[in-house]
Amino acid sequence: MSTHSIAVIAGDGIGKEVVPAAITCLERIAGIHGLNLAFTYFDWGSDYYGRNGRMMPADGLDQLARHDAIFLGAVGSPEVPDTESLWGLLIPIRREFQQYINLRPVRTLDGVTSPLASDKPIDILIVRENNEGEYSEVGGRMYRGLPHETAVQETIFTRLGVSRAAHFAASLAASRQGRLTSATKSNGIIHTMPFWDEVIEETARQYPGVTVTHELVDALAAHLVLKPWTLDVIVASNLLGDILSDLGSAVTGSIGVAPSANLNPEGDFPSLFEPVHGSAPDIAGKGLANPVGQIWSGAMMLEHLGHPDAAAHLQSAFESALRDGHSTRDVGGTSSTSEFTAAVLTAIDAHA
Ligand code: NAI
Ligand code: MG
Repeated sequence: MSTHSIAVIAGDGIGKEVVPAAITCLERIAGIHGLNLAFTYFDWGSDYYGRNGRMMPADGLDQLARHDAIFLGAVGSPEVPDTESLWGLLIPIRREFQQYINLRPVRTLDGVTSPLASDKPIDILIVRENNEGEYSEVGGRMYRGLPHETAVQETIFTRLGVSRAAHFAASLAASRQGRLTSATKSNGIIHTMPFWDEVIEETARQYPGVTVTHELVDALAAHLVLKPWTLDVIVASNLLGDILSDLGSAVTGSIGVAPSANLNPEGDFPSLFEPVHGSAPDIAGKGLANPVGQIWSGAMMLEHLGHPDAAAHLQSAFESALRDGHSTRDVGGTSSTSEFTAAVLTAIDAHA
């Protein structure tokens, strides 16, 4: 039996609802496919912050490093500044574990209505650079409270950082339709973005079947709304990829269905799987949360752990639950989180 130890951080808000829902599905799948998924639960997040003044213990990363993968819900609470919740947990995990790829599939699902007038299927992979770029620690504040108060934040692009994102995206494109779209803004941002363009271009050239298009991000945002079905793989910097993937998920129906993988492709450290959405304090505790983004992230985790059949089984189960008309309120349905999860479990058994 194949055993994997998985660190689980449900986190805050609806994370505490969608993570248990997804784990139930993962356990059912594991039973059918002969996998031993050993889950270890960590109660880190904003409540932990309230008790301890930090989002996770000082040796939190060492504890996580012992696991094969990390399964995260969301962190963030109205009681804790977002800078604390993000920089105290998620960003250190992404950086220290060199999870430099944030892979975000954007796909239409039967049973989930897109807000677009067209019903052409959308199937895009967004590859977001996840370690550097605009989310840098370089900068500072001066003259606090004075009329000339100043804030500076530098964008950091390294050849290593941009080229490894480009390699990942180009090889994905090579396995699909061969079309790589790079999000840029080199007309306005004249140092870092032309460098980004050059490194993407040089790297993509090493993949003969791949054509690369550089699209200014404002035009690309419009493209994502007007003709998303013409896009294949998008590679984007940390900030631009963050924004484009929320837009992409909205265009396919709801941020509640969008999954993501924070990957350390070399496998030197555990990778982290989480939905794109946050802790949704506005609906937390009401049983309204859509667990699809979390369940789909679980399928990506199974794939990453080397179990494509189990991943495909879980994927087809939540897709068939949606196709059969089960869905939560955010996508126009009436199911609660637990009712939808029960429909997925039924579909798992039906396809076993
Ligand atoms: P959000 O994604 O939590 O919510 C945005 C909107 O989408 C809300 O109206 C919410 O009800 C809805 N929504 C989100 N997920 C849903 C789901 N699964 N089912 C149904 N509806 C869903 O983003 P927001 O409001 O900007 O952030 C809330 C908190 O989450 C903040 O503290 C933020 O920093 C944090 N956050 C954490 C992330 C993470 O842990 N990776 C990512 C994004 C935000
Ligand atoms: Mg985001």
